[in-house]
Amino acid sequence: MLELERLRGDLDAEGLSSWASELQPLLAERIADTAHGKLREWRDALDSLPSMQRQAAELGSAAIGAPDLKLNHDQQSATRDALLRLLPWRKGPFDIGGVVIDAEWRSNLKWDRVRAAISPLKDRLVLDVGSGNGYYALRMRGQGARMVIGIDPTLLYVVQYRAIASFIEPQPVHVLPLRLHDLPAQMRAFDTVFSMGVLYHQRSPLTHLQQLRDALKPGGELVLETLVLPNEEACARTPENRYARMRNVWLLPSIAELTVWLARSGYIDITLADVTATTVDEQRSTRWMPFESLHAALDPEDPTRTVEGWPAPRRAILVATSPARSGSSSRT
Ligand SMILES: C[S@@+](CC[C@H](N)C(=O)[O-])C[C@H]1O[C@@H](n2cnc3c(N)ncnc32)[C@H](O)[C@@H]1O
Repeated sequence: MLELERLRGDLDAEGLSSWASELQPLLAERIADTAHGKLREWRDALDSLPSMQRQAAELGSAAIGAPDLKLNHDQQSATRDALLRLLPWRKGPFDIGGVVIDAEWRSNLKWDRVRAAISPLKDRLVLDVGSGNGYYALRMRGQGARMVIGIDPTLLYVVQYRAIASFIEPQPVHVLPLRLHDLPAQMRAFDTVFSMGVLYHQRSPLTHLQQLRDALKPGGELVLETLVLPNEEACARTPENRYARMRNVWLLPSIAELTVWLARSGYIDITLADVTATTVDEQRSTRWMPFESLHAALDPEDPTRTVEGWPAPRRAILVATSPARSGSSSRT
């Protein structure tokens, strides 16, 4: 499910052999049949995908796919049925030989905003923390990243990535069932680290920012995308219960507060690149994510508020640099 041989080769080529060795037993444990009650079902769905020759990938346009992949009617039906057994698809779109996965998020819209804000990815070693099903990791590769390691503890998304990857020529992209804290301490290996939509799920956001910094090479770039409060002043609040119907949202900062968090975590050159309110055009229920989406989380009387009375979701993109000198960590 993880193309472990290829992962080993790719990590060896990056001088990360000791990490590769550490990873083998950890990954074996994470994808063991006992790791998740539905893993067997998901593996069956993977096994029922038609076995096709892998084709050159199109990673530069909104829908990730393989233009030369031709599926006949029966193969399309089998592909659609198998992929629908891997619901919910939160990130997309993908186009697999005419089977279009219209995911909950039109992730190409966020990618367009992010891409405009960051240093060119050409030849960079990239870490995407909270990579989901690898949509963004593949788009990063499409921008010339040398290799992308996506990590996400949600096993279904790792399975979804495997389903997509089985149709396209092998890429130096790996989506692994890991959390950020599973990475070696003080790794200092990556040229660019992305944390998109992850910070507000952390009980300790400052620890998260510090761990991201530890993963970066000195001089490397952090790309942080997260929910922010509209307040001008530096402040942060924790929802008493849910935020936009999500149970696992912890501390929500204003941009001024987030900037302080980044500075206290040792980042320099902190730049705000974008702030965008999420619309029901960008995040919505579809056949591929048939459950409630943003629409149900907004107050029908006043869509600038959530059903809980909070400001409706708005997301900021900040870019920051890990200092070249290692001595300036906030922990020292
Ligand atoms: C809201 S989704 C964002 C996905 C994608 N990055 C995006 O921007 O659309 C958050 C993802 O982060 C993952 N996640 C949560 N905590 C994590 C951690 N400590 N390390 C890595 N991934 C994490 C979740 O499993 C989930 O897939």
